[in-house]
Order: sequence, then structure tokens, then C-alpha cells
Amino acid sequence: MHEKFVISPSGPLKGSVEIGGSKNAVLPVLAAAILVENSVIHNAPRLSDVEHMCQLLESLGAKTGWDGASLKVDSRGINCQEAAYEWVGKLRASFLVMGPLLARFGTAKVSLPGGCAIGTRPIDLHLKGMAALGAEVEHCQGYVKVSAKKLTGAKVYLDFPSVGATENIMMAAALAQGQTILENCAVEPEIVDLANYLNAAGADIRGAGTDTIKINGATALRNIEHTVIPDRIEAGTFMVAAAITHGDILLTNVMADHVKPVIAKLKEAQVQVQELDEGIRVSHGRGAETIAADIKTLPYPGFPTDMQAQFMALMAVARGTSIITETVFENRFMQVGELKRMGADIKIESRSAVTEGVSQLAGAQVTASDLRAGAALTLAALCAKGDTEIGGIHHIDRGYYGLEVQLNKLGAKIQRISN
Ligand code: EPZ
Repeated sequence: MHEKFVISPSGPLKGSVEIGGSKNAVLPVLAAAILVENSVIHNAPRLSDVEHMCQLLESLGAKTGWDGASLKVDSRGINCQEAAYEWVGKLRASFLVMGPLLARFGTAKVSLPGGCAIGTRPIDLHLKGMAALGAEVEHCQGYVKVSAKKLTGAKVYLDFPSVGATENIMMAAALAQGQTILENCAVEPEIVDLANYLNAAGADIRGAGTDTIKINGATALRNIEHTVIPDRIEAGTFMVAAAITHGDILLTNVMADHVKPVIAKLKEAQVQVQELDEGIRVSHGRGAETIAADIKTLPYPGFPTDMQAQFMALMAVARGTSIITETVFENRFMQVGELKRMGADIKIESRSAVTEGVSQLAGAQVTASDLRAGAALTLAALCAKGDTEIGGIHHIDRGYYGLEVQLNKLGAKIQRISN
């Protein structure tokens, strides 16, 4: 069903918002649930990406079900080790089932994820890890098949600290014989959350959160309950919503440590950010000026690429020039064309976008090309003069549960309309 947002100027957003569970933590944990008979995952966000991952697990033979905000996964019935194109095409993170299927069954056949709007999204580092653990890797008709009678621990150096590759190899190594050492691996909070889930189930993973992770293979993992960390990108998005509308929002259920780079950049832009016991308060007085700040996206703990588009929306109405450099993905400025149609002054020069702040944006008909570009257009619409229509909001629903409902509770005027 094609739906759109119709957003009218709202004035300052005020109130408090409870941040949901992390999309990018719950998806690898759902894949890891293949290694555990019964899992209960608390604080799971009801996102379309999560629904798709559950459908994929069920296509393999698992059972999944919601109990409030808790997601139950029973993996005992898994009898298929093939993740079909229809799933991986909908959800790239489906590729994360490769490691756990290989570890549990000695084989996995997963459709190549292909590229997406933000880049080609290769999986070479995932496969480098599987091969290092002793798997045979075969490519056939758009699928990749990995198989191994047994997996043996190995040392794997990641050419790039890939989040997905770190997660996939960690899950494969969890049941390998002997020790695996992952070097130059990703250090994102979602990696730590996955390691916590696996260790609580009986795995032996040390060093998660650093660039070297040691995994001593276990023989079997036991049933587990796990609470997913808050979504740091959802948090950052609401922080920008407070700044761009000159509002005053208290974010609860957020881990300040995980949003340090966003806090630092908002403060540089002269936005008030207070870390309180009850959460993070972001306020920006009606007359307060937003000052342009440069950002360069980097793997954690650098400024997150998943916040680049949202921050660009704020810089579009800041005073001065902001240079935004995207170093993680090769095509993640898809929001620029649409922001320019709203009156933003942005020039792309190679991997940088030079944004000259303007006094006000104007509402327009725009289309979301991907999840975070959609969030950025929503933020821009909140402070634009006149109504904005945003199409393609299914992209937004992938990573935000009822974004318009949450924003309307804070004073926004957003309607979700079926086309
Ligand atoms: C995860 O994607 C996130 N998705 C992305 O969030 C996030 O943008 C990204 O990490 C970076 O933080 C999930 O966690 C489900 P990568 P992932 O592997 O794992 C290169 C969102 O908006 N690379 O760290 O796919 C790749 O080309 C989404 O929530 C290789 O070269 O990211 C890219 O340039 C978007 N070879 C860079 O690494 C590989 O084998 C980062 O990719 C794998 C990756």
C-alpha cells in the first residue's frame, strides 16, 4: 500500500519521547536466535524490518511471536538452510543468517543481497571470514553457498570494520572448534549487544566493543532472555527534531554514551543538550541561532553515517556553511536533491556536500529514497513554510515505529495518507 506523509508547519516540538529498541541490534540478535532453541527478546521494536526478519526465520522452520514488546523465537523446528531472494531482497540484514546457519547445520545458502540506494553493499568480508573458519564458498545463480563439516577457529583481519561482517563471523565462530580472533572489527554498540546475547547463552566472546574480538568456540548454547539496547539513531533523529523546530524535548530510555558524537555536533551548532538522570534534554530557543558545523561520517565512535542525512536537514537552515563528508557509503546523499527542492542550498563535491544555510525551507512534494533520507525530509518539513508531502514512507517505517505518531505527540502536524 502506498502511503505518504502530509506535514504542516508545527512550531516548536515540546514534551518527552521514549526511545525504542535498536533496529540494528535486534536484527543480528534475531539471526543469532538460530543458534539457541528458545529466545525471548525484550524491548524489540515493531518495525517492518523486524517483521521481515521474523518471516525469514519462519521460512527456515522457526516459530516467532510477539508478547507485548517481547519477541519469542523457537528455533527447534528449523529444517531449511536457504534464505531465498524474496527475503534478502526485502531486507539486506537477512544475510546475517549465514553465520548461524553455517555454525549450527554446517551449511547455508543465502541469496546475494545486491546493492541498495546508498551503495553496492558488498559482502566480501563476510565470505572472507567464513572461508577462514574452513567453509567452502560457492557462488551459483545469485546465491552464495557456504559449507563445512566443521568450523575451526582462525585469525581474521577485516579490511574495513564492517558491522555486518563482524556480526556474521562472530556468530559462525561462536560454535567453531578453538579460538577465532577478529581484528580491525567493528566496535558499534550493536556488536556489544550481540556479544552480550551470545555470552548470556553460553558463548565465550571477549573484547566486543574493541577492534579485536576473541571467540572461544562453545559446544552448544542455552535458552536465553535478552533486552535490546535503545536505538541510538532514533534518539539522534528526535534530538535533531528538537533543534530544527526550536523546541524542547526530553528523550528517555536512551544511552548517552551511544549518542556522544551527535551530542557533540549539536552543541557545536549551539543547541542546548543536557544529560540528565531521566534522559537527554535537547532545547533550542525560538530566537536561538543554529550555527553551521562540519561533519565527517566514520565507523563508531565517529559521527554515525545513519545520522548524516538528518544532520544535513538541520545544517540546511543553519547560519554559515557546513561541509558534510560521507566516508562510509559511496552514495548516501540521496536526500540532497529533495532537500534542494525544498529550497536548501547544497552542492555535492565528490564525497562531500557543501551546505549553505538558508533562512527558511519551503514545503514541497518530495519522495523518500531510503530510510534515513526519509527521516531527514520529515525533519526538514517540520520547519518548512507551507505543507510538505513525502512519498515512499514505507522506507521510514523500516526503521521508525510510527514516527508521525511520536512527533505528533510532541506537537507536530503530520497526517499519514494512503495514496
Ligand atoms: C550496518 O550495515 C547497519 N545496518 C547500517 O544501518 C549502517 O549504516 C552500517 O552498518 C554502518 O554503520 C544494520 O546493522 C542492519 P557495513 P552493514 O558492513 O553491516 C563496506 C540503517 O540506516 N563493506 O559496516 O551493511 C561497505 O561497502 C542502516 O539503519 C565491504 O566493503 O554496514 C560499506 O562501505 C543503513 N565489504 C562499509 O563497509 C563487506 O563485506 C560499511 O558497511 C561489508 C561491508
